[in-house]
Amino acid sequence: MRVACCLVLHKQNEAEHAASDVSDTTTAAHSEQDPAATPACDAIASEPSPRGVCAGTGIIAAHALMQQLLAKAFLAAQSRATVLVHGETGTGKELIAAAIHGNSKRRTGRFVRLNCASLSESLLESELFGHERGAFTGAIGQRKGRFEQAHLGTLFLDEVSEIPLALQVKLLRFLQEREFERVGGDETLQVDVRVVAATNRDLRAMVADHTFREDLYYRLNVVRLEVPPLRARPSDVPLLAEHFLARYAGENEKDMRGFAADAMAALVGHAWPGNVRELQNVIEQAVVLCELDEIGLDDLRMHVGTRQDDPIRLIVPGVTLAELERFAILKTLDSVGGSPTKAAAILGVSRRTIQYRLREWGIATGLERGVDEPFDDAS
Ligand SMILES: Nc1ncnc2c1ncn2[C@@H]1O[C@H](COP(=O)(O)OP(=O)(O)O)[C@@H](O)[C@H]1O
Ligand SMILES: [Mg+2]
Repeated sequence: MRVACCLVLHKQNEAEHAASDVSDTTTAAHSEQDPAATPACDAIASEPSPRGVCAGTGIIAAHALMQQLLAKAFLAAQSRATVLVHGETGTGKELIAAAIHGNSKRRTGRFVRLNCASLSESLLESELFGHERGAFTGAIGQRKGRFEQAHLGTLFLDEVSEIPLALQVKLLRFLQEREFERVGGDETLQVDVRVVAATNRDLRAMVADHTFREDLYYRLNVVRLEVPPLRARPSDVPLLAEHFLARYAGENEKDMRGFAADAMAALVGHAWPGNVRELQNVIEQAVVLCELDEIGLDDLRMHVGTRQDDPIRLIVPGVTLAELERFAILKTLDSVGGSPTKAAAILGVSRRTIQYRLREWGIATGLERGVDEPFDDAS
């Protein structure tokens, strides 16, 4: 199983210079026969469970892009390498960071989070590195920072792009030398912490703008994980939707059967600018407001017409033509009230093409739902 997992990574990393970091440390973990490494690798190398839940992480991921991402994350987890998780907001970056920690040898240590966007420069510095008594007004005692708290564990730096330049130098020093001083302190401290950083911004562009240090960028980018937006992995939508349905039905003590076919088609066809977090919110709201035991189209409150609805944004590396076709058909059907004739006219294909595709995907046609247009079965 381990071999299969390594092969996945090897193939995927051919063009990436992260390969040496990851494969070196993987070899080390391999020879040590670390039992902590086995379940994660096996979970990836074997078939996904029917509902697409990646064992031991709570991450729902059936799509090939996510499977590849998780295979890489689990290999990175075996090393101490710094990891940079990049992806749009709501794609699950924090979940991936937690999975890296939970599948590493450090999992008995703490997973400490810090959102770098939420604090002023001076507060952020004292949160990261701690402070000595009297370091500033209000510093009435010594305080350990997040680096110290995360000793032998993992520090997750969310929105790392928001760290001010002056503090970027100090973070760089830690990543290079593994040492720092508390604010107002002379003593140099050393801790054993693995850093996982996340951002939704283009750090390379920030380097070009001189708002992010180039040397820090390279230090963070040792292993880079790219979390695909939800619209690039439509096959994950039904699994996630059902997962959240079960969760919120349980929380609200409601018996729910599932989704009506047109509701599911709308979910799969939506562009999800807010990604999994938006889907989660839409399902929670639907469960709360739904008066029947099945979520219908009317129960779904999705935002439409955002910048990210632009179909061009769908074309991210790794999206297949079949997925683009499915998205185009379902999205267009959605916008014309489910009529294959109208959708066909807009898309420039025959009505039969649309009907065949729907049947292939197991989505009910108008006739099967007892409405308007008959299914044209002539070939
Ligand atoms: N693949 C997934 N499977 C299950 N839940 C997910 C998945 N991706 C994201 N979530 C959930 O969606 C929400 C947003 O995820 P989060 O990790 O906070 O995103 P980000 O850090 O990228 O903004 C969280 O509640 C998280 O648990
Ligand atoms: Mg986040």
